[in-house]
Amino acid sequence: MGIRSLLLPSTLVVLIATSCLADSAWNGHLLPGSTTKARFSPYYVPPGAKSYDSSSPLLHYSGGWTESFSPAYVQKSIRASSEPGAAMTFTFTGTGVEWFGNQDKKHGMAKVYIDGQLAQEVDAYNEASMKQQRMFWAFGLPQGKHTLKIMNAGASHSSASGIQIDIDALVVTLGTSAEQQAPSQQNMATSSQNLPSYPPLLDLSSKFPQESQWTLVQNGSTGVHAMQLVIISETHALVVDKVEHNPLTVSGHPAWAALYNLKTHALKPLSMQSNSFCAGGTFLSNGTLVNVGGNPVVEDRTASADFGDVDGLQAIRIFEPCESNNVDDCAIYENHDRIRMASPRWYNTVLRISDGSAMIIGGSLKGGWINNATTNNPTVEYFPPKNIHNSNGLPIHLPFLVDTLNSNLFPIAFSLPDGSVFMAANRDAMIYDWKTNTERRLPQIPNGVRVTYPMTGTALLLPLSPENNYTPEILLCGGSTIDDTKPGYEISSQDPASSQCSRMVLTDAGIAAGWQVEQMPQARTMPDAVLLPTGEVLVVNGAGSGISGYGNVVNQVGASNADNPVFTPVLYSPSGPAGQRFSTAGMPTSDIPRLYHSVATLTPQGDIMVAGSNPNLDRSELKYGTEYRVEWLGPAYMKKERPQILSGVPKLFKFGDTIELKILLPVTSLQGASVKVALMDLGYVTHAVHANSRLVYLTSSMSSDQQTLTITAPPNGNIYPPGPGFIYVVVDGVPSAGARVLVGNGKGPIVDPAAQQKYVNRVQRYVQELTGKSP
Ligand SMILES: *[C@@H]1O[C@H](CO)[C@@H](O)[C@H](O)[C@H]1NC(C)=O
Ligand SMILES: *[C@@H]1O[C@H](CO)[C@@H](O)[C@H](O)[C@H]1NC(C)=O
Ligand SMILES: *[C@@H]1O[C@H](CO)[C@@H](O)[C@H](O)[C@H]1NC(C)=O
Repeated sequence: MGIRSLLLPSTLVVLIATSCLADSAWNGHLLPGSTTKARFSPYYVPPGAKSYDSSSPLLHYSGGWTESFSPAYVQKSIRASSEPGAAMTFTFTGTGVEWFGNQDKKHGMAKVYIDGQLAQEVDAYNEASMKQQRMFWAFGLPQGKHTLKIMNAGASHSSASGIQIDIDALVVTLGTSAEQQAPSQQNMATSSQNLPSYPPLLDLSSKFPQESQWTLVQNGSTGVHAMQLVIISETHALVVDKVEHNPLTVSGHPAWAALYNLKTHALKPLSMQSNSFCAGGTFLSNGTLVNVGGNPVVEDRTASADFGDVDGLQAIRIFEPCESNNVDDCAIYENHDRIRMASPRWYNTVLRISDGSAMIIGGSLKGGWINNATTNNPTVEYFPPKNIHNSNGLPIHLPFLVDTLNSNLFPIAFSLPDGSVFMAANRDAMIYDWKTNTERRLPQIPNGVRVTYPMTGTALLLPLSPENNYTPEILLCGGSTIDDTKPGYEISSQDPASSQCSRMVLTDAGIAAGWQVEQMPQARTMPDAVLLPTGEVLVVNGAGSGISGYGNVVNQVGASNADNPVFTPVLYSPSGPAGQRFSTAGMPTSDIPRLYHSVATLTPQGDIMVAGSNPNLDRSELKYGTEYRVEWLGPAYMKKERPQILSGVPKLFKFGDTIELKILLPVTSLQGASVKVALMDLGYVTHAVHANSRLVYLTSSMSSDQQTLTITAPPNGNIYPPGPGFIYVVVDGVPSAGARVLVGNGKGPIVDPAAQQKYVNRVQRYVQELTGKSP
């Protein structure tokens, strides 16, 4: 594929982006069946929810309310009150409720009560006049009868000219009944002839002492659906979604990115211009996060989801370091004329490599479903652009991504300790030496298992340790053996997933020995593999059958291409004896399906944040609906007395530097306790790809008084690509909380002005060419 054919679509994007600058978000919103742009209104009734108009007899008003009429209101009517204490009471059966109303300068405050408890004080003041705004939402209530009360608080914002409160409509989330929540027995039965039989999972929980039990707690909501998740500091995670009707609002429209406070569960919505469905991301060596790629403006009249935004296919969104507890000033920066990729990418993987820059790998030239030769973007490019292999900063062809069609989106990639890059896509794997632009093909993954979208498996680089000279070993788990040339109508949500894990040591001897195969206790597609500071791997989330995505196969559940959610996580001990590495001992079982667009990550505290699941075009409350609830999986070590890092953590942890940490060991640790120090990249998680996930054990020694731990940084950027990381001190299998450092010299990746300039000139020339020819 020539450079020109890759560049042409990009020039179109420039034009679209420029013409959209007047109103940066939602400007392209089209109402279903219309071609005229209109302001987006947050009012939305997802499948599985019911709307009640302000005039419904089920809404009980007390005090003085007046009714007014306009086509701009839901059902053309609204009720308003400016009387302190005036209230509306509504009793409903379900698991959630939303209140929609107007905002402007005349509006004041309301107190909102759920079941008699004050839930929130809502300020309806807005400098602009906005209709059909989401004023309040509560999801995840226990299934049953609840009462919502909205009361005029008689107070207002200092610039408000009134204290009006109004009610346009209420939307109730009906919730699935207990029966619907359970794994779909009926589907299991009809497909049992297809499903291989796995050893039954015994409930051994009573046999394990309390102290080895893990905990599972549901707490918090992501507000925007958690398609992408990355820990950005000791206190916060960044959650990124696609453009859809999320409950969290920013600038009068639903948000599709938010910061999540890991301690208080508070949310800060972030403003994003372009559609980040389905982007990847990475930190750079200077701690800046880039979020790369996405979706075009959706304007094909696909009903509720055809709202607009800026085309995200070539987007590079910049999120500068945001490390303090106060995240008020943290924001996403986009400038599509100056900072963007050279080619469009949907479902690309983004990897930080040994020089601290981002390698942007593969993807599709446009949105769709499974990749094919027409849509494939079989190239890598870099951010900042590099002038290597005569590319002038433009994309570099990668034959591997042609040979791995069709099921090769969101390629699996890890930076290896010699600076090269491991990649797996579909049934194949290779090592890419980006400095020489050469591919070394590896043995095919055994037994026909495919590991990338939509036959999604997961992967990790197992812990690297100076003790074995940082010998790299790759683990691939789950996926599917479904033929990737089949059309959707020949694939079923009931086709079994794979239980296979494949491991290979990436040395000449290891490659000659080939993939070592093991079986998980349960098959999974779309699993998440999370490295723990102990060196163990947690496998969580995913489905027992079907494939990634929505709306493509037969026997969809709702719109989900997958079914039979796997509710019990499993722990894998890479160094255990073969055949005995998987364990569900003491593992809790969830009742929240985590299917397509689910995520999980280790937190700085040492527990695991589990979120997401949304196999839907837009927010849905039908099975399998859009999941905002967050779960916290606590390894048994969370309950033990934990080592503490008291001081000595530097901001910059330069390669090869030796530093001293003051630590406090648990009182029970004896002289000679096993002490390991794990430097971890918690990864950028999306679509079961845990890009950059990494654990490097550091050389360390303990002082005789057991209060000072001397540790040495990794020797260079091959071992740990320069960028952020967390240091966990692990004593007798119990880790401390993670302390954040910036590994390396903290400088940004090298910017090649020639590559940048050649690239910019080239783009501008094409823009001129194109505008000259355009009417
Ligand atoms: C949820 O988190 C909040 C804030 O940390 C805490 O106060 C509350 O007790 C937690 N709830 C549960 C069920 O753990
Ligand atoms: C390739 O994929 C695109 C996007 O899903 C689709 O529109 C197109 O029809 C496919 N082409 C072929 C030859 O299958
Ligand atoms: C880090 O480098 C990138 C790429 O050059 C740049 O966009 C960003 O602003 C830099 N961040 C900081 C904090 O200097």
